[in-house]
Amino acid sequence: QTTRRFKFNVEWKKVTRLCHAKQLLTVNGQYPGPTIIVDEGDNVEIKVTNKIAGNTTIHWHGVRQYRTGWADGPAYVTQCPIRGGQSYTYKFSVINQRGTLLWHAHYGWQRLSVHGAFIIKPRNPFPFSAPIQAEIPIIFGEWWNVDVDAMENDIVLYGGGPSGSDAFTINGLPGPLFPCSTKDTFIQTVEPGKTYLLRIINAALNQELFFAIANHTLTVVEADAVYTKPYTTSAIMIAPGQTTNVLITADQNPNPTNMFPMATRAYLTSIFPSDKNTTVGYLRYKNTKTTKKSNPTTLSYNVENLPLMNDNTFATTFSDSLRSLASAQYPCNVPQKIDKQVVTTISLNLQDCPPGKTCQGYEGKNFLASMNNQSFVRPYMSILESYYKNLTKKVFSKGFPTKPPNAFDYTGVNSLTENMNTGFGTKVLVLPFGTNLEIVFQDTAFLNLENHPIHVHGHNFFIVGAGFGNFDPVRHPKKYNLIDPPERNTVAVPQGGWAAIRLKADNPGVWFIHCHIEVHTTWGLATAFIVQNGPSPNQSIFPPPKDLPTC
Ligand code: C2O
Repeated sequence: QTTRRFKFNVEWKKVTRLCHAKQLLTVNGQYPGPTIIVDEGDNVEIKVTNKIAGNTTIHWHGVRQYRTGWADGPAYVTQCPIRGGQSYTYKFSVINQRGTLLWHAHYGWQRLSVHGAFIIKPRNPFPFSAPIQAEIPIIFGEWWNVDVDAMENDIVLYGGGPSGSDAFTINGLPGPLFPCSTKDTFIQTVEPGKTYLLRIINAALNQELFFAIANHTLTVVEADAVYTKPYTTSAIMIAPGQTTNVLITADQNPNPTNMFPMATRAYLTSIFPSDKNTTVGYLRYKNTKTTKKSNPTTLSYNVENLPLMNDNTFATTFSDSLRSLASAQYPCNVPQKIDKQVVTTISLNLQDCPPGKTCQGYEGKNFLASMNNQSFVRPYMSILESYYKNLTKKVFSKGFPTKPPNAFDYTGVNSLTENMNTGFGTKVLVLPFGTNLEIVFQDTAFLNLENHPIHVHGHNFFIVGAGFGNFDPVRHPKKYNLIDPPERNTVAVPQGGWAAIRLKADNPGVWFIHCHIEVHTTWGLATAFIVQNGPSPNQSIFPPPKDLPTC
């Protein structure tokens, strides 16, 4: 077993986009951050040194962290933050998983610019036959001209929401549709006739996205680092925290410029008037005969196969079409029977503004978000540490409700009052080792224009069912896919709908569950679950590392 070592320095760096220079938080001065490439089965050690005045942590999104929850990263859930001037070495193994994931800061909104690709090279050849000419990471992000830390602080203090970003980016580049950005255009050269593997990552803070390449189809072969049955499509929908591997073949007759636009666009179920929703890059066909470089300003931006912003049908059909490979080599281990079911609403909420305060949420109230009307409050020290050391210091409490407090009816909920009885706290679910768990996420659609990408730490899960409207506990389970459901770490719960997931809780530790739209987590759309140690010694969490940061 090889040990791969990396050094991450979290530091400020002056970065200019859209004619706007600002200090951006980075890893090793890079935006997006460095790509981590390891082999399946490796031990990984990443020494993170915090060179800024404030706190930070890093999360390896989708890495199972089997028995190594101390290295998972979410601040105050599995660790106290790394303070300014200090270091912490994340140590874990990548066992029995392979594919494209991402790493990102898990402290406040630092994920904005502190993110990068995390690629686990498979031990065995890919389960598809096309020879791959090259593997190309494609990372989507968001750029704001304003100071995002200040915006986050305002949201925490005044209960408002964020402004939309000024541009989406492809590998950090806004592209020719934005001011001063033609030179900052992502261009990928390909050889005619060859097939490429795009490792696509949505690292945007708050936005689901569509992606397409003009005149080319995309064949999805992996989602969230699990192989899928090949699915050929004109475009993909990808939510924050999700990753999707697609094959593309440079099989078109080169046009006069040899350039084919690719584009990413916001997916929102209702349209905000905005012209900054589409970001363009290019595929450039290599042609030894043309020596003249094409200038992106004179090129077409039109990607006809890119869905419109409110194309709910496309988004949902796309998610529903993905299937686990479910082969002999890569079986689909979806629990056929469950030991425990949790049904939880996922909701945005409002709260009356306390007297004498100014609130910037809808109608002068505070924005909140909750699961089963519990708005998650970030504790003052790590839940994992408190649980492991049995410190009864009111860091968290047990008994996250396993049902909505009031019978939820999608068709009936629309009044403000029904969404204002929110409780606050750090309530977690406790599960014996090996519990076969089902969670049904029910979106209340209240104040909500988009789907919620719910991410579970420490486990992959199977999306056994999803739909619009109310989850029906009698009718819907009969239609579950228990044969080849997609296995993922982030599920896009349809807006005004539900999604049912199943997992085997076999990773002892404390695991965060939250919406990967960052502002929703800030508002409280989160919970956590504890998986107790199993009976045998190799079923318990390892002891905490010596350099674990303290609070
Ligand atoms: Cu990618 Cu808890 O996050």
